[in-house]
Amino acid sequence: MRTVALAPGFGRKARRSRPGVRLGGPDSMLARIGTLPIHTVGQCGASARGAAADEWGCPVYGMVNKAVEDLVRMNHGGETWRRIKERAGIDVEVFVSTEGYPDEMTYALVGAASEVLGASAADILEAFGVHWVLHTAPDGYGAILDAAGGSLPEFLMNLNQMHTRVGMIFPNLKPPRFECGEVTENSMLLHHHTERPGLGPMVKGLVIGLGKRFDTPVRVEQVQDREKGADHDVFRVTWGPGAAG
Ligand code: HEM
Repeated sequence: MRTVALAPGFGRKARRSRPGVRLGGPDSMLARIGTLPIHTVGQCGASARGAAADEWGCPVYGMVNKAVEDLVRMNHGGETWRRIKERAGIDVEVFVSTEGYPDEMTYALVGAASEVLGASAADILEAFGVHWVLHTAPDGYGAILDAAGGSLPEFLMNLNQMHTRVGMIFPNLKPPRFECGEVTENSMLLHHHTERPGLGPMVKGLVIGLGKRFDTPVRVEQVQDREKGADHDVFRVTWGPGAAG
């Protein structure tokens, strides 16, 4: 089975570049990471923090950046995290979970982690998704996780309700929206709707993490991709004996 922990040498190699040089082709996720203002339409929440907020754009809650930090520190140590932050041009000392930070900071951190660790942005996002479910969410939000379901398919069908509960703690949350289609005993199509681009690998990692949480073998294949012109991402999720691999 494929390893999704973000370890040294893990995954495909990202192309190295000088700071400020775009990675990948003009339309690739890598090219967009760290360069794109995510919320070019819609309202910005009021909580984007600090001097950086004006230049960067709209907020994502700090617990996301904290989770990226946690993942890097756990696998590569504090010095690597310092280099990644420096490369991303971010001088925030401590991310506060309940404060808003511009989405672009998160994308810049993923782009910088990709360069510093020599892993693709997709592999980093996927590892982040797994880490979020297994380590970040249970640490403080275990009750919300527990209430969301006792099996993988039940949890997937409750994702919107779960984020509605999360929204009571984080009032400016811009949650994802999911739809479950073609549900059978051991598979479904999971539709992900969001304003944020390039998150397909993260959703894959989140679902793999849920499989681990429920000790359920799971396979996640992306069958529709916004990066390739579709209006939203769709994943075929298959679970149970024979699904892994
Ligand atoms: C207790 C568990 C969870 C908590 C507390 C939580 C909380 C959050 C928070 C704070 C954000 C950032 C949104 C913002 O700042 O505007 C987020 C985004 C997101 N969450 Fe959750 N989440 C949880 C579990 C999950 C799970 C299990 C999935 C599985 C698919 C998931 C899917 C996503 C996705 C895909 C995003 C990215 C936002 C987007 O698509 O636009 N979350 N969540």
